[in-house]
Amino acid sequence: MIFTVAIDGPAAAGKGTISKAVAARFGFRHLDTGLLYRAVGARTLSGEDPVEAALSLRPEDMDADTLRTTEVAQAASRVAVLSEVRAALTEFQRHFARAEGGAVLDGRDICTVICPDAEVKLYVTASAEVRADRRYRELSDKGHDVTPGGVLEDVLARDARDINRVEAPLKPAPGATIIDTSEMDINAAVDAAAARVQAALDAL
Ligand code: CDP
Ligand code: CDP
Repeated sequence: MIFTVAIDGPAAAGKGTISKAVAARFGFRHLDTGLLYRAVGARTLSGEDPVEAALSLRPEDMDADTLRTTEVAQAASRVAVLSEVRAALTEFQRHFARAEGGAVLDGRDICTVICPDAEVKLYVTASAEVRADRRYRELSDKGHDVTPGGVLEDVLARDARDINRVEAPLKPAPGATIIDTSEMDINAAVDAAAARVQAALDAL
């Protein structure tokens, strides 16, 4: 079976948490595509050219823990406006999505550009304040030196860059189901996403 669940949405909306839970529930593979852009961004922080970094990404660049800082997030959103960087990462993502077995991919352009024919398309969102508050708690729990204002600034700056860029801007795809998690706990958000996946599987 080839079956793709495509999930887009702004920073810290709950995409990753929902994706992991849905993938575990249905036995699907999961790709956090934000990590690809974060890995490229991190390499530019050590002086590398972004396009060369994107063309030569290695598994060891993908260490999720070191890529979770707001500094790397900002670098990721700056390289993500470059069409050559996006092009260099496209084939890997499409191949992951259409390999045998189900796949969940989350990011900004999965429903709109990478997998417009995905069996399930979701746009996960929440108010900027709720998202920044969740991300602040997450980062401070992990021992990062962050302030609520600094995290809100990161979220707002990246949202603006992601929404306003020319190449693959962040927006709900036609036909995507919108899940606003502002007033949902994580279990309710996962259940809403899983219900859409189950309905699409039942319709096969
Ligand atoms: O992947 P994305 O940046 O969209 O968000 P995430 O990393 O899945 O979620 C950001 C934080 O919000 C995590 O700590 C989640 O546990 C939390 N969260 C939540 O508390 N309630 C939700 N409905 C969704 C996420
Ligand atoms: O976890 P969070 O939602 O905060 O960010 P992320 O998903 O790790 O993405 C980091 C940055 O990479 C985003 O702000 C986007 O600029 C970029 N990105 C993108 O352009 N396209 C994607 N498919 C995924 C991420």
